[in-house]
Amino acid sequence: MATKAAAAKATAKSGPPASNGRPSVRLTKLFIDNEWCDPADGGSFETCNPATGETIATVAAAGPGDVDRAVKAARRALESGPWSTMDAADRGRLMFKLADLVEQNADELASLESLNCGKTIADSKGDLQGVCNTLRYYAGWADKVEGRTIPVRGNFLSYTLRQPVGVIGQIIPWNFPLLMLAWKWGPALACGNAVVMKPAEQTPLTALRMAELAREAGFPAGVINILNGMGETTGAAIVNHPDVDKIAFTGHVDTAKIIQKAAADTLKRTTFELGGKSPNVIFADADMDAAVAGAFHAIYFHGGQCCTAGSRLFVESRIHEEFVERLAEKAKGRVIGDPLDARTEQGPQVSQEQLDKILHYVDLGEKQGARLITGGERVGQKGFFVQPTIFDNVTDEMAIARDEIFGPVVSVLPFKSAEEVIERANRTYYGLAAAVWTKDIDKAHLYARKVRAGTVWVNCYHVVDATTPFGGFKMSGQGRENGEAALEHYTELKTVTVKLGG
Ligand code: NAI
Ligand code: MG
Repeated sequence: MATKAAAAKATAKSGPPASNGRPSVRLTKLFIDNEWCDPADGGSFETCNPATGETIATVAAAGPGDVDRAVKAARRALESGPWSTMDAADRGRLMFKLADLVEQNADELASLESLNCGKTIADSKGDLQGVCNTLRYYAGWADKVEGRTIPVRGNFLSYTLRQPVGVIGQIIPWNFPLLMLAWKWGPALACGNAVVMKPAEQTPLTALRMAELAREAGFPAGVINILNGMGETTGAAIVNHPDVDKIAFTGHVDTAKIIQKAAADTLKRTTFELGGKSPNVIFADADMDAAVAGAFHAIYFHGGQCCTAGSRLFVESRIHEEFVERLAEKAKGRVIGDPLDARTEQGPQVSQEQLDKILHYVDLGEKQGARLITGGERVGQKGFFVQPTIFDNVTDEMAIARDEIFGPVVSVLPFKSAEEVIERANRTYYGLAAAVWTKDIDKAHLYARKVRAGTVWVNCYHVVDATTPFGGFKMSGQGRENGEAALEHYTELKTVTVKLGG
């Protein structure tokens, strides 16, 4: 974390305009009350290109005083600004407008996302589509969040109102910076809340561009505030602020525990979307081509940096050998390189920290006796690239079968029967996602019913949509995002009872 003095100079590296599709970086300050500002008591930090390790820009970091300014702006927006009296339908119109602006600027946003986060340009474009879908889905909800009338005892009229929770602190990770922003903004804005968001310190840039587009769309001052910075400082200041009503968090389970404890002091509402160690189960009767491709996508999509990554691959013993062979063949052919090059299939991991973590688990896998089939090495000396990696003959107790690695490392676990695999699939404290590949509908539905996970895929993987509830069982989270389910986490329920005359 750099100093206050450096903060004033927070700026993008100047230089020649972007070449070969590299976007230029203009926005690095704090976004509070619809203004770009320098931190009053924060600092600055450097953000890098994970494909090279080089600094892209120096970005302003918010201190507690800056957080306080943003929270006050959000509160004003809720209490006295145009946002507080705006028709719900007009909130929806602003959100539709924002989605249109995102669509018009999708190429620029996608390249900035790839530059800062390392995801392939194709994946970034896919995320941008998801962002538009999410904003539009929730824009449609804005004027459909209804209360009820209640047949109360006595001569009274009782009805419920669904009102905004208030100022929402939203803390998001680096693996899907724009999509996580949209998942958090969508229901919050549709329900009339105001947002103080902290993007991940690894990927601070695209949220700032989104703030600029939100202002252009016409969101009133204070409704959306973006504060970059470190988790332990900026993030903690948001969590500890007494006038923040709720924290919505996506990230590591240990961070969620810290946040939940801190939030207890002010009894803030919290929702958490945390990690996973998702079981992907392949029965021998599955469509083999589809299952191999599906298992590959399940673990290697975005270099394994997905909370839903299919990192425990259970394969029925009868087909296990052939399956691993075919998976390894695909893994060896994966094109790794510059995420902005359209031919690239896998970009870098996001940071040195993540690279080190992954290589540490590869080491543990070998030491604990798993069989390394392919991969396991860093690629090149610049940037944070790792080979797609397969461990076979993994047992349930090994670290690589238990811990979230968040990299392109899959653990293959052979099994013999449906009963056995369901019990083993559930032997984890996580419960975010699970998948099964089979042509037998009985087996598919048995698994779907018995597996303890918030999302179950049958003969597919990573199918996530703005319309479908998403979240975790057990230590994978609390609450749900996406779909109608998210709305309840962004509204307070108020009962109004009126004494009737006569
Ligand atoms: P993290 O949980 O530390 O970071 C996520 C967000 O929380 C970031 O914005 C960070 O600045 C913020 N944060 C960190 N400490 C905080 C605190 N004390 N108070 C408030 N905010 C705080 O995750 P990190 O360190 O980036 O990644 C570590 C591991 O977490 C990964 O290897 C992966 O296993 C898991 N992870 C899971 C994600 C998911 O999608 N569920 C996303 C990112 C990471
Ligand atoms: Mg962390």
